[in-house]
Amino acid sequence: MMQRSENDAEHHPLQPKFQTPEYLRTIPHLRPRIPANALLLRLRSQVIASLTQFFANEGFVQTHTPVITSSDCEGAGEVFTVSSNAAKNSVQETKPEDEAQVEHFFRTPKYLTVSAQLHLEALAQAVDRVWTLSPTFRAEKSDTPRHLSEFYMLEAELCFTEDIEDVMSVVENMLRAVAQALGASPLGAQLLRLRDIPSKDAEEGEKSASAVTLKQRWAGMATGDWPRITYRDSIDLLQQAVSDGKATFAFRPSYEAGLQAEHERYIAATVGEGWRPVFVTDYPSVQKPFYMPPSLSTANSKGAEDTVACFDLLVPELCELAGGSMREHRSAQLLQALTAKGVDGSSLEWYQDLRKYGSVPHGGFGLGFDRLLCYLSGISNVRDVVAFPRWHGRCDC
Ligand code: 4AD
Ligand code: MG
Repeated sequence: MMQRSENDAEHHPLQPKFQTPEYLRTIPHLRPRIPANALLLRLRSQVIASLTQFFANEGFVQTHTPVITSSDCEGAGEVFTVSSNAAKNSVQETKPEDEAQVEHFFRTPKYLTVSAQLHLEALAQAVDRVWTLSPTFRAEKSDTPRHLSEFYMLEAELCFTEDIEDVMSVVENMLRAVAQALGASPLGAQLLRLRDIPSKDAEEGEKSASAVTLKQRWAGMATGDWPRITYRDSIDLLQQAVSDGKATFAFRPSYEAGLQAEHERYIAATVGEGWRPVFVTDYPSVQKPFYMPPSLSTANSKGAEDTVACFDLLVPELCELAGGSMREHRSAQLLQALTAKGVDGSSLEWYQDLRKYGSVPHGGFGLGFDRLLCYLSGISNVRDVVAFPRWHGRCDC
């Protein structure tokens, strides 16, 4: 007979009673043994299988992009710097005043990737359509249920397209395939059963979605033609809601200030009627990174505004699930944008080469894979769908 190891049931950190998500996060090495958490491991695996199938059917080539990179793709300064053991710390948050003391293993500062996009763009120019699901790192100190320091981002790029609609269609078709496969699978049925069981969770304030909500979410993803609204129109909608007394916000909606999570939640609840994802398009250029080209004039309902050809995909409660854009493929315009945004182009010469030595119109997107699993499973905190979550101040094992 197979010999099992000892098991000290009395002092076991997992007890057959309600234990809060916060407590369970302190024992990530044991947490997966809880059946509901084991199910999340299976969900992750199944969704990756669905995505792999979808992209293969659509002629996308799966690629591996580097984790160690030379540039901060998003320009938000949220990078972890990589250094060798000989330096003070092996990986530390960027602190410019400390840089002089860090020994650069690669001679110049290198960072953990914040997005595979720039490298994907290089590969797309070779094989037309590419995708990757890869670890992504952000040194942001956001203490929210949606942010991690290490997460998986699903990214794709497609060539020979001039219209952001084409990129949005890929996102829509992809999530439809994932939701349909989940809804038809035994694992989907198991997830629903779990959400149906009246548990002590509700009493304890755990905000997991009910089976009814989950079914609605999957149906919203599985049906097509998700609503689209421009950024300008969404600001008008929010301002109108405030003046009509239909909504109150901590932050007054304004064109210049950008959308806060509470605004995104309202848009998902109204424009998406609380069950369908919503594309918000054509954000002001000042709010977005250097690589986004101007909107097609027809996409901008107010004409002369300085907006870019991009979208954010919003879903109820979770807010931003994905973001994408066309990529500036013209050399001169790219250089102009780098200068206008004050981006140090020295580490991006290779990216400019992609334009200098022949480029075609292309676009792509990035989707927070752990956020997607949250949405599909009804788990309210991204820290609970990742087996070993890392966030500011916490990296337990
Ligand atoms: O909107 P983001 O920052 O877009 C990019 O990085 C693009 N370069 C992607 C691309 O076009 N290839 O990130 C994309 C998505 C977000 O919509 C969000 O869902 C997720 O990544 N995300 C996070 N997920 C968990 N924790 C964080 N700290 C995240 N930051 C972004
Ligand atoms: Mg974004």
